[in-house]
Amino acid sequence: MATLWAVSDLHVSVAGNEAVLDRLQPQSADDWLLVAGDVAERQTDILSTLALLARRYRQVVWSPGNHELFSVGKDEATGRKKYDALVRGCRELGVLTPEDPYANFHGVRVVPLFTLYDYSLRPTATSLDQAMESAKRKGVMLSDEMFIAPYVDIRGWCWERLSYSVNRVGRLSEPCVLMNHWPLEPALLEVLGAPEMSLWCGTKHTRGWAERYHAQAVVYGHLHTPGVRTIAGVPHYEVSLGYPKQWRDTLEARSWPAPVLEVGHGA
Ligand SMILES: [Fe+2]
Repeated sequence: MATLWAVSDLHVSVAGNEAVLDRLQPQSADDWLLVAGDVAERQTDILSTLALLARRYRQVVWSPGNHELFSVGKDEATGRKKYDALVRGCRELGVLTPEDPYANFHGVRVVPLFTLYDYSLRPTATSLDQAMESAKRKGVMLSDEMFIAPYVDIRGWCWERLSYSVNRVGRLSEPCVLMNHWPLEPALLEVLGAPEMSLWCGTKHTRGWAERYHAQAVVYGHLHTPGVRTIAGVPHYEVSLGYPKQWRDTLEARSWPAPVLEVGHGA
């Protein structure tokens, strides 16, 4: 058997999370691992974790989350330059990124996406300023506003990434597995405790991608509410580890890492 495993939101710089990496072990020499973002904030932590995983699995595939894009230290690149530096670091490790050709896992193309968010997931007839104001009043504000927004035009980058991704994924003729840190389907945000959080949770422009691009499965994270939800016949796997208070009592009982595809030898 060869299995395509998936995780996200390892947050290895949070006390207690690094030890969980011991659980990420292949069951066969042909197993792959998808890492759907939020490994850590600092470049050295992100790349050393991916290096560790790349030594264990036949192939590791990574998509960035918002935490990878944080500008947190004077010695770190910021904004787009930080993403470019991480892609270069991944290439040195043999880890695939959204900038590489889509690899073939037993006939299925593995597609790491990086589509970011554009604040479009807000109540209709509400301007972005109004939505931000309302979120602020309710005390809902992601750290992204401090650690990403000052360094890059997030909406402009998101729209560029959408165009880049559609151009590439639209050319695929085989079935695929899509991986993105942010959920592709707005309906998946119903699990959020505070609806204002949706502002930072993706874009309305990826709605329907799984069906349109013949995905066998979608892998995502970000919400820290792991589980599988099926939309239009396609399973969407939320594969986050999250923070210790979120996983401590539940990790043993759940299927983590998540086995997204399994194939027999010769398949
Ligand atoms: Fe996260």
